[in-house]
Amino acid sequence: MPVSNFTQDELDEIYAFAVDLGRKAGDMLMERVEQRISGGEQKFEEKDSSVDIVTQTDEDVEVFIRSAIQSKYPEHKFLGEETYAKGQSRDYLITEQPTWCIDPLDGTVNYTHIFPMFCVSIGFIVQHRPIIGVIYAPFQDQLFSACPGRGAWLNEKRQLPLIRNPIPPMPANAPSQCIFSCEWGKDRRDIPDGNMHRKIESFMNMAAELGSRDGKGGMVHGMRSLGSATLDLAYTAMGSFDIWWEGGCWEWDVAAGIAILLEAGGLVTTANPPENPDTAPIQDLSLGSRLYLAVRPAGPSETETGRESQERTVREVWRRVRHLSYNRPGA
Ligand code: IPD
Ligand code: CA
Repeated sequence: MPVSNFTQDELDEIYAFAVDLGRKAGDMLMERVEQRISGGEQKFEEKDSSVDIVTQTDEDVEVFIRSAIQSKYPEHKFLGEETYAKGQSRDYLITEQPTWCIDPLDGTVNYTHIFPMFCVSIGFIVQHRPIIGVIYAPFQDQLFSACPGRGAWLNEKRQLPLIRNPIPPMPANAPSQCIFSCEWGKDRRDIPDGNMHRKIESFMNMAAELGSRDGKGGMVHGMRSLGSATLDLAYTAMGSFDIWWEGGCWEWDVAAGIAILLEAGGLVTTANPPENPDTAPIQDLSLGSRLYLAVRPAGPSETETGRESQERTVREVWRRVRHLSYNRPGA
């Protein structure tokens, strides 16, 4: 993919800086966990609801990352989850300018419960497209990273997707035989036909036996929720998850994960089914939409290209999921 205005050397330098920063920030997360394990206290505050929480660690790690980026690349823009949360606007603030979009701690609920699926997530975006991504989950010592022209990697030694000689096509009868990743999210309003009810109906459709639910039963192999959107995407880039469907998260929850998934050969489009899912064009990623559907990297079969098998999977998911609605001015 040509990346305007950046040479490969410049991208490589930004990439190396981001990897180093991700490791240092992840080590900070882990130090605080160690302190808690040895008896330290963990306090958190509620933001929009009792499931939308922030710890001192989120704040401290964001300050650390922001100052490192601003001193190395003062010409780049910066957007971080906690900085954004303190501002007034809920608009999509990313512009055409090169922008760092970071989540100091994705999976904050996991972190407060010491459920290991938490990480730091650092994305670098050019013209609204995440191109460099670094995700470091320190409890498992898993570092996911990607840069244009350099591929996507786990711990800088295993290229993604993990199975690649050859990369398997999507199953002929997808979503059957797929692992479907999804999240309950933070919108817990118990409104009939609201987002939470629609998500659950969609989950039921994907899970139920074939032929059930007016033909919508997809009988996926399994459903998984890691509690971290960016790790869901990293696992999709690995090929461990086949499909990720989610509404309600924000650009910092997905920027690094999308960069890694795209570089690995995955597809990202909108979670919301168009009126005619069988024929509508597959829309390109809209970063600020808060609605995402991702499909893992796929290779060709005798009858389809990898991309064709991904698009077929997108349409099969769209046939089974409900339309979600997350307000955002200007998106
Ligand atoms: C959340 C996680 C979760 C997703 C939420 C996000 P946080 O981020 O990524 O998986 O469902 O929408 O807000 O609060 O842990 O940084
Ligand atoms: Ca997050």
